[in-house]
Amino acid sequence: MALNVIKMKKMKGEGVPLSMLTAYDYPSARLAEEAGVDLILVGDSLGNVVLGYDSTLPVTLDDMVYHTRSVARGAGNTFIVADMPFMTYHGGIDETLRGVRRLMQEGHAHAVKMEGGLEICDTVRAVVNAGVPVLAHIGLTPQSVHTIGGYRVQGKDPEDARRLMKEAKALEQAGAFGIVLELVTEEVAEAITRELGIPTIGIGAGRRCDGQVLVFHDVLQYASPYREKRFVKTYADIGGVIRDGLTRYVQEVKERAFPAEEHVFAADESVLDSLYG
Ligand code: KIV
Ligand code: NA
Repeated sequence: MALNVIKMKKMKGEGVPLSMLTAYDYPSARLAEEAGVDLILVGDSLGNVVLGYDSTLPVTLDDMVYHTRSVARGAGNTFIVADMPFMTYHGGIDETLRGVRRLMQEGHAHAVKMEGGLEICDTVRAVVNAGVPVLAHIGLTPQSVHTIGGYRVQGKDPEDARRLMKEAKALEQAGAFGIVLELVTEEVAEAITRELGIPTIGIGAGRRCDGQVLVFHDVLQYASPYREKRFVKTYADIGGVIRDGLTRYVQEVKERAFPAEEHVFAADESVLDSLYG
């Protein structure tokens, strides 16, 4: 594996950006690795983009283990972070560690990610003490969408900005190797990035973070369920390419243009004779 948490911190010091992308299965992981991404996130965005739910809340630990395993098989040389799903790290440290063990041992992740601020610092510390790197995640935390009251930009007022800064520092103190900043104003994300020794990885958090993360299906317009998002840049229209290809396939079957002569297996005449005597 090319990358580790020590190197990531060093890259921050050298001003080398970290590229992170989500992946959910063998082909997406393989392509992400071939493209040279530094870190793969098996995000619980799995729920929205692959499983068709309208939030990340229904995603289970079993779902995460299953998908992390397939990602690991596709990207054997990339640092893989797996999301701890909704409500699997709030019920006591024993239960949390059982979930972490499954993502690491059965899923073959190298680290786990958890959403939350001060309230999860003890948990982060315990997981790190167990030898597992933890990526923190603050700002817009989709697992708390119902308490946050929607997918809104964070860090827009002074009180909110101070809270985010306090959370980031506490999570670094607790031993997190990095922090995802989701939907945070650029100025606040920049200030946090400057204050921390560990890398920040932004999504909708402006230009000054130490790294960037995006969702695979958003980047490639691969039937992403989300409407246009200001912070996403699309680099290909994979959905369009797939739809066109499949439409032509359906059409050619209907027109009996497929299969053509080059696709068929012919038997010799004796076979035909034996059938019709
Ligand atoms: O699940 C996910 O894809 C994430 C990223 C948006 C950071 O948590
Ligand atoms: Na997530």
